[in-house]
Amino acid sequence: MAVRQHFQARQNDITLAVFPKSGTTWLKALAFSILHRQHYTPSQNHPLLTSNPHTLVPFLGKAFLDQDLTSNIAHSPRLFSTHTPYHALPPSIKSFAIGCRIVYLCRNPYDTFISAWHFFTKARPDNLEPLSLNDAFDMYCRGVFAYGPFWDHVLGYWKESLERPQKFLFLTYEDLKDNPILHMKRLAEFMGVPFSVEEEKEGLIEEISRLCSINNLRELDVNKTGKTGSLLVNKTLFRKGEVGDWVNSLTPEMVERLDKIIKEKMDGFGLTF
Ligand code: A3P
Repeated sequence: MAVRQHFQARQNDITLAVFPKSGTTWLKALAFSILHRQHYTPSQNHPLLTSNPHTLVPFLGKAFLDQDLTSNIAHSPRLFSTHTPYHALPPSIKSFAIGCRIVYLCRNPYDTFISAWHFFTKARPDNLEPLSLNDAFDMYCRGVFAYGPFWDHVLGYWKESLERPQKFLFLTYEDLKDNPILHMKRLAEFMGVPFSVEEEKEGLIEEISRLCSINNLRELDVNKTGKTGSLLVNKTLFRKGEVGDWVNSLTPEMVERLDKIIKEKMDGFGLTF
């Protein structure tokens, strides 16, 4: 509430908005590396080699409340992230007049749920009973989830992005996996730092893609043994990073139930999963 009331967006701010467990860590790594590539090349002392992406691109609320003006957020353009649903963003971020930009990353609801279940199982305090897959799934289907129901979150940003395409870049985890180079180029262009022909020829996009890949980040000391803040153990952020892993955990009945809900809530808006 404090952030919503007091945060003042600037014209060239870039907000990365993501539903939890949809690829926030990956998008932060990519956006940071693309935006700051004049200062840091992937092969030489890149900050991602020693810092977790969540340290380099802070969550808006945390940065604001900590008055964290020492990190990249102090530079221009400021880059931060949020899980907050669109309707609850600070008004100045949504403002048409200010014109700051929002990158939204969406992931299919099945993988998002499975990823969240694994994550919250690991992050759950020892004094609480484990949350069974069945109970967690039931809550997810009823919309009981951090930052609200999946469908409200995605549609909130999706509808706005259709109305104001110049303010939004809507990406999907699946597209990024399928063709990282193409979507990194879109991201660079949207952030106002398009790759030059020389950079393309030199293979810089591929280099950044490799640097930010889950296989690379997972093996770095900072992500094997480090923590972000007092609670987050970095290694819990890197699991499989695959598309379609849900087939290994969801029963046909679960899929049928979630399919029905997604159809009911999201049909007719032009989004398919
Ligand atoms: P899985 O649990 O399906 O493996 P978030 O960053 O929003 O918390 O999302 C976590 C999901 O993104 C996890 O998915 C995690 O493995 C995956 N992930 C983390 N870093 C990634 C990267 N560099 N590339 C692709 N996926 C990544």
